[in-house]
Amino acid sequence: VKVLFRSAEARASALVAVSFKTKTTSRAARHLALPPRLRELAAAAFEAGHFRGETGEVFPLVYRRRGSPAALFLVGLGERRSFDAEKLRQAFGSFARSLKSRRAPQVALLLGSPICRRLFSKLGWERGIAALVEGWCLGCYEFDRLKTRRGRPSRAPALELDPRRVPPRELADARRGAIRAQVLARAVNLARDLSNTPPNLLGPTDLAAAAKRVAKTSGLSCSVLKRAELERGQLGALLAVGQGSTQGPRLIVIRYRSGKRGAKQLALVGKAVTFDSGGISIKPAQGMEEMKFDMAGGAAVLGALQALAELKAPLDVVGVIPACENLISGSALRPGDVVRSASGKTIEVINTDAEGRLILADAIHYAHRFRPAAIVDVATLTGACVVALGSRFSGLMSNDRELAEEIRAAGDRAGERVWELPLGEDAGESVRSQVADIKNFAGKGAGAITAAAFLSHFVAETPWAHLDIAGTAWTKRDEGYHRVGATGVGVRILVEFAERFGG
Ligand code: BES
Ligand code: MN
Ligand code: ZN
Repeated sequence: VKVLFRSAEARASALVAVSFKTKTTSRAARHLALPPRLRELAAAAFEAGHFRGETGEVFPLVYRRRGSPAALFLVGLGERRSFDAEKLRQAFGSFARSLKSRRAPQVALLLGSPICRRLFSKLGWERGIAALVEGWCLGCYEFDRLKTRRGRPSRAPALELDPRRVPPRELADARRGAIRAQVLARAVNLARDLSNTPPNLLGPTDLAAAAKRVAKTSGLSCSVLKRAELERGQLGALLAVGQGSTQGPRLIVIRYRSGKRGAKQLALVGKAVTFDSGGISIKPAQGMEEMKFDMAGGAAVLGALQALAELKAPLDVVGVIPACENLISGSALRPGDVVRSASGKTIEVINTDAEGRLILADAIHYAHRFRPAAIVDVATLTGACVVALGSRFSGLMSNDRELAEEIRAAGDRAGERVWELPLGEDAGESVRSQVADIKNFAGKGAGAITAAAFLSHFVAETPWAHLDIAGTAWTKRDEGYHRVGATGVGVRILVEFAERFGG
């Protein structure tokens, strides 16, 4: 995806003009700082009610310029009162999507227009341009690798940001914002690609190979523990979940080092079940194909590490990604089995479909080797979280008030919102077992919380936050900057959080 700062005049660019929702239609067009003829066209579109300025609404106006057809796209920003960076992301995400079926080689936005100058001085030029570019780059995303296509692949048009009449200081901020947004969008799109890839093409081995590739191109170190090392390290819970598949489990460990003396260490842990059939506690057939997304947490951690390395974040980060397939076979884990986790705690397996917490138990324990100042795990962990919070908010659970608040605030800034669910002092009691130390299923009620309660047995005293992304990791419809399929959720909130945590 191309985003360029250059003046649009010379080329036959399509123009884009943004507008808030409005009732006084004649005045709305006046704010757009367009040549009289175009202002007249825009005014007519407002007046006739063809364009109202709802968030993400896109209306194309076509006219002739020096004999050739040219276009002006009106893009809505919604109510002026509720406008924020997220609305801008969504608007440009929708705009990018709407151009998919059109043939514009480039579209230009006049940053110096009165409405843009007002908009960006309100949001801050860096933050504002970052939101716009992020929305654009995410909206341009397409997962079409597996389509055998006739003709040429559809190319996203270049976005030209016309810098004329923007003061130099603001312009410098804008350039920084655009670069940051492209780093983030590339990381989100990496996570989306991995998550969207079908489970026959992306197993634990393939994910490990992808991690190595990312590490190589971004200057990270990466090691992958295979069966023998997992046995040596006694990661019994990860081995148990993986034992039903011919593709063995992997523990991916990927590190970013800032090179700063006394840098803080942060551990990010991401669940990566490349396919979750439920195991012997098998899932219903309906929708089971969606369980290819059960590695979205691991993909988010990988994306976040790539972005943090490219942004040269001021802290050290280790990503720990337990990867396996939860399948059924003669060698599969059984309900009733008791396994010994890396921490030494024994776990009674009540339900083989509660596999995420098992592999996270070993990964969280493993992460303590790096003496992290905090651990954040990300996982498509429970259907119960989807019931509780739906698809707009990820679930947040934590043993540390300050950490929880920092994560929540990072989510708001990033446009990946979270809602906290309570973890009582004695939450860990709910998973006590009769025959082992703990069990992996606590019965009906508060499923998202009891899953976190299970994890809390493996975090010791470390400040820890758990993000349940079961409801947010993928979507069934195109909306704003989301496309059908994986959302890449987790990447942006982790990066936002980590940068402040380090600095
Ligand atoms: N990967 C699923 C959770 C999930 C369900 C994510 C739906 C996204 C959408 C997880 O491994 C699982 O199966 N959890 C069980 C736990 C239960 C058996 C305690 C669940 O939520 O039903
Ligand atoms: Mn499961
Ligand atoms: Zn799962």
